[in-house]
Amino acid sequence: MTRKIDIFDTTLRDGEQSPGASMNTEEKLVIARQLLRLGVDVIEAGFPISSPGDFESVRRISELAGDNAVVCGLTRAIDKDIEVAADALKYAKRPRIHTGIGVSESHMRDKLRITEEQCIERAVHAVGYAKTFVDDVQFYAEDAGRSDFAFLAKVIEAVIAAGATVVNIPDTTGYSLPWDFGERIKYLVDNVKGIEDVTISVHCHNDLGMATALSLAGVRNGATQIECTINGLGERAGNTAMEEVVMGIRMHGEELDARTDINTREFVKASRLVSSITGMNVQANKAIVGANAFAHSSGIHQDGVLKKRDTYEIIDPAEVGVSASQIVLTARSGHAALKHRLEELGYAYEGEELDRIYEAFLNLADRKKEVYDEDLESLVNERDREETALFSLEGVQVSCGFPLKPTATVTLRDAEGAPTTVCEWGTGPVDAVYKAIDKVVQVRCDLSEFSVQSVTRGIDALGEVTVRVKAASGEVFTGRGADGDIIVSSAKAYLNALNRLLTSSR
Ligand code: KIV
Ligand code: ZN
Repeated sequence: MTRKIDIFDTTLRDGEQSPGASMNTEEKLVIARQLLRLGVDVIEAGFPISSPGDFESVRRISELAGDNAVVCGLTRAIDKDIEVAADALKYAKRPRIHTGIGVSESHMRDKLRITEEQCIERAVHAVGYAKTFVDDVQFYAEDAGRSDFAFLAKVIEAVIAAGATVVNIPDTTGYSLPWDFGERIKYLVDNVKGIEDVTISVHCHNDLGMATALSLAGVRNGATQIECTINGLGERAGNTAMEEVVMGIRMHGEELDARTDINTREFVKASRLVSSITGMNVQANKAIVGANAFAHSSGIHQDGVLKKRDTYEIIDPAEVGVSASQIVLTARSGHAALKHRLEELGYAYEGEELDRIYEAFLNLADRKKEVYDEDLESLVNERDREETALFSLEGVQVSCGFPLKPTATVTLRDAEGAPTTVCEWGTGPVDAVYKAIDKVVQVRCDLSEFSVQSVTRGIDALGEVTVRVKAASGEVFTGRGADGDIIVSSAKAYLNALNRLLTSSR
C-alpha cells in the first residue's frame, strides 16, 4: 500500500507572517473554505495568543471545518499560549495543539538563553500540558535543520514519551541541502524510540529556493506529513508551496512510495484567491500556478506540443485547474452562460447575488470584447472586497496632462451610506485621487508600495493595482482593486487597504 502523505496547510499562519500579507477573519474563512475544497488534512488556522483576530480565526475555522480537517493552533512552549489555543480550538471536532521550542545551539544559546536540559524539560512540559486539553499534540523542534543530530533525537524521543502524536522537524531558516535534510529524517527514524508510532512532519522554508526539494527528501526518508502554503507564501522567502510538492508526489509517487488526497484541480483557483486576498502577486514563471507555467513560446516547443502534448508538458494543465473551456463570454452572453462558467470555476451564485455579478460582468464586457476566466475571478474578488468595505467608492474623476495640474474629484460613501465629495490636486492623477480619499477617510498612514499589472492580455485588459500602506502602528496593510481604468483600480486598491486598516483597529 502506498503511503498516504498528510497535507498540513499553514497559509493562514506561517503564510500570514509574510510582510503585508495579513488577513482579517472573514478573508481567512474564505481561504479556509478553499482549503477544504482542496481536501487538505490539517489547517493551521493561526497562533491564537498572538492577537484577538488570530484567536477568532482559529475559533471560526474550527466551527467551519467540522469533521473534514484537523484544525491546529500554534503555541510557544508556554502554558498561557497553550491554554488560549485550547480555548480557541474548543469547537473543533478534530483539534490539534502545535507547540514547540528552538533546539539548535543558536536558538537555545542566543534566543532562549537556556541549556539543553532546560530545553528538553520545557518541551516535555509543553507537550504534557497540551495533552491535558487535547489528544492530538504536535511538537515542533524549531530550527531542527541546524541542530545537532543526537540532541534532536533526544528531544524528539522525550516528547514522544510525553505523548506527542506528530513530531515536526522544521528547517526554519531554509539552510539545509535536500540530501542532508533527508539524512536527518532517516537518522531520527533509525535512532528515536517510539518514532514508528507517531507522524513525522516536515516544515521547510525556501531561503535557498529548495523548500519543495527538502520536503520531498523528508518524505523519501520517512516523513508522512508535509507543512506547506498556497503559492509558497510565508516568512521571508516563504514555505514549501503546496501545489509544487503535491504535484511532485503525484508525478513521482511510485519511487517515493507516496500519494496525497489533494484535489489538484483546485490549485489555480486557490492560488488566485490567496494572491488576491493577500496582495502577494504570483510570478509568471512560478511552477504549477504561474501565468506562464503552461505557455510554450518557442517555435520548436510549440511544434512538439502540437504533435504530442507530453513532448514539453509533464502535467496536463487541466489537472491543476487551468481552464480548457472553449466558451468565450462576451456582452451577448446571458445569465445562464455566466452562471455555468462561474460554477466551472467553483463559484456558486444564485438570485440577487448572481444579478449583481452579471451587472458587473456586462459593464466589463461592454468595454472588453472577450471576458476571460481571470477577469471573472477578478470581478468576484472585487465584489467580495466591496461587501466588507467601510467606505465605498461612488465616483472618481481626474483631469491631468501637460501642462495641467493633476486634479481629482472623488465621491465616497461611508458605512451609513452618506456620500462625501471632495476635490484635491497632486503630483499626478493617482496622487490627487489618494489625497482626496485621505481627506474623507482621515486615517494616518504611508503608502509604501504601488504596483499595476494587467489581469489578462490586450489593451482592453483589466488593470489590477496592489498597494501597501503602513499604519502609524507600523503594521502593513495590502489593498487591491481591479477595473478597466487604472485610475479607478488605483482608487479601489487604496480604499481597500484603508478599509482593512480601519477594520483591524476597531
Ligand atoms: O519555521 C518554523 O520553525 C515554524 C515553526 C513555528 C513550526 O514556523
Ligand atoms: Zn515556519
